[in-house]
Amino acid sequence: MAEAIYPVPADWAETALIDEARYLDMHRRSVEEPDAFWAEEAQRIDWIKPFTKVKNTSFHEEDFGIRWFEDGTLNLSANCLDRHLAERGDTVAILWEPDSPQDPSRAITYRELHADVCRLANLLLARGVQRGDRVTIYLPMVPEAAVAMLACARIGAIHSIVFAGFSPDALAGRIQDCDSRVVLTADEGLRGGKRVPLKKNVDEALTHCPAVATVVVLARTGADVAMQDGRDLRWAEAVAAQSAECAPAEMNAEDPLFILYTSGSTGKPKGVLHTTGGYSVWASMTHQYVFDYRPGQIYWCAADIGWVTGHSYVVYGPLANGATTVMFEGVPNFPDPSRFWQVVDKFGVEIFYGAPTALRALMREGDDWVHKTSRKSLRLLGSVGEPINPEAWEWYHKVVGEGRCPIVDTWWQTETGGAMITPLPGATALKPGSASKPMFGVQPALLDNDGLVLDGATDGCLVIGDSWPGQMRTVWGDHERFFQTYFTTFKGWYFTGDGCRRDEDGYYWITGRIDDVINVSGHRMGTAEIESALVAHAKVAEAAVVGMPHAIKGQGIYAYVTCNAEVEPDEALRRELVAWVRHEIGPIATPDVIQFAPGLPKTRSGKIMRRILRKIAENDLGSLGDTSTLADPSVVDNLIANRPVLA
Ligand code: PRX
Repeated sequence: MAEAIYPVPADWAETALIDEARYLDMHRRSVEEPDAFWAEEAQRIDWIKPFTKVKNTSFHEEDFGIRWFEDGTLNLSANCLDRHLAERGDTVAILWEPDSPQDPSRAITYRELHADVCRLANLLLARGVQRGDRVTIYLPMVPEAAVAMLACARIGAIHSIVFAGFSPDALAGRIQDCDSRVVLTADEGLRGGKRVPLKKNVDEALTHCPAVATVVVLARTGADVAMQDGRDLRWAEAVAAQSAECAPAEMNAEDPLFILYTSGSTGKPKGVLHTTGGYSVWASMTHQYVFDYRPGQIYWCAADIGWVTGHSYVVYGPLANGATTVMFEGVPNFPDPSRFWQVVDKFGVEIFYGAPTALRALMREGDDWVHKTSRKSLRLLGSVGEPINPEAWEWYHKVVGEGRCPIVDTWWQTETGGAMITPLPGATALKPGSASKPMFGVQPALLDNDGLVLDGATDGCLVIGDSWPGQMRTVWGDHERFFQTYFTTFKGWYFTGDGCRRDEDGYYWITGRIDDVINVSGHRMGTAEIESALVAHAKVAEAAVVGMPHAIKGQGIYAYVTCNAEVEPDEALRRELVAWVRHEIGPIATPDVIQFAPGLPKTRSGKIMRRILRKIAENDLGSLGDTSTLADPSVVDNLIANRPVLA
């Protein structure tokens, strides 16, 4: 099939902030004269003390380091709040839509948000939180989650948000790793009509985290939850006693802003650390250009604040730009599959940014759910988190956007802080399924496995050639792991972990992870984490987890499990293991398939041949490749013969 191309609509080319000529010129300048380019772009942020140095970065071992605007000082909370008060204090900063359409929504102005943030910041100070201390946030999608982030940023505390779908164990691990002494949470969360016992999870987690001295509990559902004297505070009461003024701390550009744990191909999730100055410039700039954002527009990013997309594009980018940002507590199909589009109509959303997995799920429900709504306010659509298949892209474009809205398919990562490869709506002709062209300052390249740079139309490993301001700075507590993970596979390059194709027009097409990371419903997971959860079960001897194609989730989780010798695996054990993984990590890690296997394919040196396991999971049995190097080739026949029949 010939690739479809959607040219930039004429009105976009004329009116957008950036048209094609400007894009080309700005990209060239960002690469050829980075100091001048970024010194200018950084003026979008109010600096307390202006920087005199712009870029000081190297990906090479001898002088490795990443510093941007290093002698400047600023406060990101002040950039998201205080500086807007004079001009748009009464503009709505956050439009919040609850899980149930029966419940009232909330509109919080910049002035109100400022006061709420100051109160919580003062409470944190009163509880002894100091600059550089870590604060864990385990909250559902409520405005207080944004308040919590901004309150930390205000006093220079480093926030670490843990997605409210993670289990007590996962939460405990993240609290311990960064040694937080404060947790901000709610009694319960509410998603798709279901209650999530957040405070109960926190209590369970804290049995392993004795250093936590303060837990602030927001009343979301009003459920009766246990409160520990001296440690646990009720949010509303505790902040009511605080002043609504709190001076923003003067932070150095390279002071840490937040930690966000993300999965890698090995070991425990790593604490990705972002710092203040570069991240602020990057989040604000990309939000403005990618969404062609103009003050006054209603903008909705449907991501959860537990993921990086929520950090950069629900909270920091939009608020730095004085936007009205929609926060949605619920899910796309509750109470029915019109929900997203009803919210669009309710608020007059102009820009909508969502994940392919949600779109695929809604597409399956049929077009009527969309047609029932008007969506006439929509001008621009966005996609993030995983490759969007052309079929879902076309549906998004034709059915949701009625052919009138460009789609920005933004490729990026927790590590990159913001969009790296993406169309700009007034500049880039669109090809469904392609993230298209690099953002300013981004120099992508494709390498072969030996690290040779490939030119022209080709497939390869996606690397980035030089630093950009939003780049992560380190892995919390393990700088060596940072260097090892990203800069040693290909010396002198940042390695993304993604495979990619570049076509004859220079468009980039992300093909997916080439390491042992899988992407399930846009949630990133290390196969090693799920394996270690499985082998922690008393009946399991060994486990190997791979991704499998899944029509809605993009990838599903396929687990091969070898039980201890005395165990007879059966359906009951299968269910028990599924529940076990959900409990150990959280529902997002639920295995789709568990295949009991008497043995796993290993080389003579004992290494599991994952390539073969992936092929079996994909039901691609014709291309298993050479199995003769296996210690016991008959293992493969057994796996194939006993492959579960999948619906
Ligand atoms: O494989 C890529 C995929 O998601 C990975 C990053 O996941 P995470 O750190 O959780 O951040 C997700 C939100 C930015 C990438 O390595 N990915 C993300 N966006 C896209 C994508 N794959 C294809 N197209 C995208 N637009």
